[in-house]
Amino acid sequence: MQNQISNFKLHNPVTIVFGKDRIKELPTLIPADSKVLITYGGGSVKRFGTLNRVKKALSDYEFGEFGGIEANPTFETCVQAVDLIKQEGYDFILAVGGGSVIDGTKFIAAAAASDGDPKDIFSAGIGQGVRVNSALPFGTILTLPATSSEMNGTSVITFVEEQAKISFFSPHVYPQFSILEPELTYTLPSKQLANGVSDAYTHVIENYLTYPVGGMVQDQFSEGLLKTFIEIGPEVIDEDNHDYNLRANFMWAVSISLNGWLSVGVPGDWSTHALGHEITVLNGTDHARTLTAVLPATMHVRRKEKHNKLVQYAERVFGVTEGTEDEKVDAAIKKTVEFFKSIDMPTNLTEVGVEEKDIDFLVDQLVKHEKINISEHGNQTADIHREIYKAALTNNFLK
Ligand code: NZQ
Ligand code: ZN
Repeated sequence: MQNQISNFKLHNPVTIVFGKDRIKELPTLIPADSKVLITYGGGSVKRFGTLNRVKKALSDYEFGEFGGIEANPTFETCVQAVDLIKQEGYDFILAVGGGSVIDGTKFIAAAAASDGDPKDIFSAGIGQGVRVNSALPFGTILTLPATSSEMNGTSVITFVEEQAKISFFSPHVYPQFSILEPELTYTLPSKQLANGVSDAYTHVIENYLTYPVGGMVQDQFSEGLLKTFIEIGPEVIDEDNHDYNLRANFMWAVSISLNGWLSVGVPGDWSTHALGHEITVLNGTDHARTLTAVLPATMHVRRKEKHNKLVQYAERVFGVTEGTEDEKVDAAIKKTVEFFKSIDMPTNLTEVGVEEKDIDFLVDQLVKHEKINISEHGNQTADIHREIYKAALTNNFLK
């Protein structure tokens, strides 16, 4: 077990362009004479006028469009964009949307720069897991703060036929730039705002709630972000509250949550994400909702392994000072559930439509996708996944 901050190398090359009315600066960010493919999702960027602003800013460029990237972007859709790029000779991609459009674009950028089978970018039973050696350059315009995909090199792709949701990381798929206009969040419905707060909250937790190695900076950055989400979460989910600073704080806090700053040198868990992805495969539940449905049970089942950090979380994030250490752990779990409830998120599996009979499928999927012996200790086995799913059905342990 690691007991010190481990060696690390950090290079996050993403230029962040943050604030009001920044889309018009696209010509300063995309090389002149680029042939640009604009990628987007199911149409929100058309409905709310963002695509028109982008096209206006790109009026001196040759550009085309590829829309229809789904929430939980599919391999099947994204490879169509790869073909289009190869046929038409696009050499820059501009993703306009949330995590799904950005993740889809990362895969498109990597596959378009390779002559190999695009499936081979992935491992875990899908392809050969071949290292990505290059990718087309791309930038993003973020419309939904949730994943930090705008500031990292990770992409999560859904394979419909194989019933799988698999990620890859490559230093070649960091965006060249990401434009973050907090006002673009004003059109988000409450549910997506709550998803955004919760996904980012869980990203911080995955790197924080492990065991202590003395990472003071990582710990206190994390605690600051968690407290920020707890403080602003209930206001952020009010879709009619268009307070600029509120949304600006939300957007920036989310981007930092998974951009590398919190994870370097310290252990990471990521089991709640692994267990959650299989729920999305099972019944299409939004990514963030799978996390809040699983996390309280992860904290409960893994309370021994996470004891010291759970106590620290109770004390520093929720200000719990009374009681024994075990009582503090109980309070931390309860307060996490209360927080998720305060922003209208599900906190158990029943609320996201998972029944006891589904657990075999979920555990089998994790085994198939090589998600065994995961977590910060590398000892979360299939049996423990099952125990967590079972506990999460109703969260009886809270009573
Ligand atoms: O598709 P359109 O019409 O654009 O509508 C989207 C979509 O239906 C809508 N939306 C986006 N911006 C909007 C808006 N509606 C109104 N106003 C706006 N400004 O919101 C819906 C959800 O969008 P999506 O991009 O799917 O959400 P999110 O950003 O939560 O992304 C989820 C995906 O990211 C992956 C998840 O697994 C999931 O596939 N993740 C990616 C990570 C990464 N790259 O590092 C880490 C995460 O843990 C996560 O796994
Ligand atoms: Zn996530």
